[in-house]
Amino acid sequence: MTRTLGIDLGSSLRTAAIRELDPLAADALCLDMRRHNDRADVPALVEALRRIVPSLDDVAGYTVEACVAAMRDLGMFLGSIKRHGPEPVPLAPEALPVLLELGRRTDMVPRDTVHHYTTWNPTGGRQRMYTGDIQEAYLQESVRMVFPHLREGLELSERLSGADVADPKFAVLTDELTAHVETMVASIDMVVANVGPEFFARILRAYFEEITVDGRVLLGPAAAQVPLWLIDQAIWAADNSEPEYEEFLRDSVPYSLPRWRELYGRWTDVPSVVSRLVEAYGDDPEEAERRIPALRQSAEGIARLLRVIVVFRGRHLGIARKAYDADLRLYPVGSGGASVDLLRQIIDLTRATVQLTRRPGPAAAAARAERRPA
Ligand code: HEM
Repeated sequence: MTRTLGIDLGSSLRTAAIRELDPLAADALCLDMRRHNDRADVPALVEALRRIVPSLDDVAGYTVEACVAAMRDLGMFLGSIKRHGPEPVPLAPEALPVLLELGRRTDMVPRDTVHHYTTWNPTGGRQRMYTGDIQEAYLQESVRMVFPHLREGLELSERLSGADVADPKFAVLTDELTAHVETMVASIDMVVANVGPEFFARILRAYFEEITVDGRVLLGPAAAQVPLWLIDQAIWAADNSEPEYEEFLRDSVPYSLPRWRELYGRWTDVPSVVSRLVEAYGDDPEEAERRIPALRQSAEGIARLLRVIVVFRGRHLGIARKAYDADLRLYPVGSGGASVDLLRQIIDLTRATVQLTRRPGPAAAAARAERRPA
C-alpha cells in the first residue's frame, strides 16, 4: 500500500505543482460545471462526476500531488450536486472508495477543503468555480492570498509558544507574526469591496453545504476553515477560551493540513502565550517590569497582534451580519457550522484578551481565573 504521510502539502513549490495538474482530465468538464449549476442540471453534474471518478488502480499510480488535484476536482462536483439538493455520494457510489483512498493518501478528510478550493485551485482559464461569477473569484482570491502568510504565522506561533516572554527577541517575533496576520485585514477589505452579501447569501453559500461520506458528515470548503483560530490557540485560547469557541475549534481542526493539526495538539497541552505573560507579571506589574525590562515590549507586541485580529474580526462580522440577515439568508448558520453570534463571542473574547495584556497584574490574573475556573 502506498503511504505518503508527512509530506508538506502547503509548501509553495508543491502548491504550484498541484495547480498545474489535471489527473482526471477534468478541465473542460469543470468549465461546463458552471453552466450545469446555473441550470441546476443535477443529471449532467452526476454524469460528469461519474466520468471523472478514477479507479483505485489509477489512484495507486498517482503522486500525492495528483491525489490532491483529483480530490479538488471531485469535490467541485460533490459540492455542486449538493447545492441543488441531493446527497452526491449515493448518486455516484463508485466515488466512495476513491474519496476514502484520496483522504488516506493525503492525510486529510475524505472530501475537498478550503485548501483545494483556493490554494490548490489553478488560476486563469482553468480555475475551478461553481458559478464563474467574478465575486466568487474575489472570495477565492481573498483566501488564496492569506494562506502563505498563515503558514508562516503558524510556524512563528510555534516559536512564540516555546519562547521566553522575558526575552527581548519575543517582541520581534510577535511583530513578525503581526505583519503576516495583517494580510487577513487586506483580504476582508477586498471581500467587502467586491463581494455583495446578497451574492454570498443567495448564490454561493449553498455550495458549501455539508455532505456525508461513509457515514461521516463533512463540512464544505468555506473560509471558516482559514485557521486564524489556530493562532488564537497558541497565543491565548488554549486556556482562556469558552466552551462554544473551543468546540468550533475542535470541529474545524480536522479540515486543516496535517502539520497544523499537529500544532493544535501541541498547543492544547501547554499554557498559552498570554497566560505565561500574565504569570510573568505576577501580582506587582511595576516591580516585574523593573526586574525584567523586556516584559513591557512583549506585552505591547501581543496587544498589537490582537488588535489586528480584532480589526479583521470586526470587518468580517460586518459582512457576515449582512449575509446572514434574517431577510436575506437561506441558512441560519454558517457553512462552518457556527452562527454569527459565535463570531460576536469570539471578538469579545479577543478584545478581553487585549485588556489582559494591556493591564497585566492581579486584575488580569483574576479576570483569567474568572474566565477559566479550575
Ligand atoms: C461574504 C463573505 C463571508 C461571510 C458571509 C462569512 C461568514 C462567516 C460565518 C457565518 C462564520 C461562522 C462560522 C461558520 O461559517 O459556520 C465565519 C467564520 C470565519 N470566517 Fe468568514 N465569512 C466570509 C468571508 C471570509 C473570508 C474572506 C475570510 C478569510 C480570508 C473568512 C475567515 C473566517 C474565519 C477565520 C472564521 C472563523 C472564526 C474566526 O476566526 O473569527 N471569512 N465566516
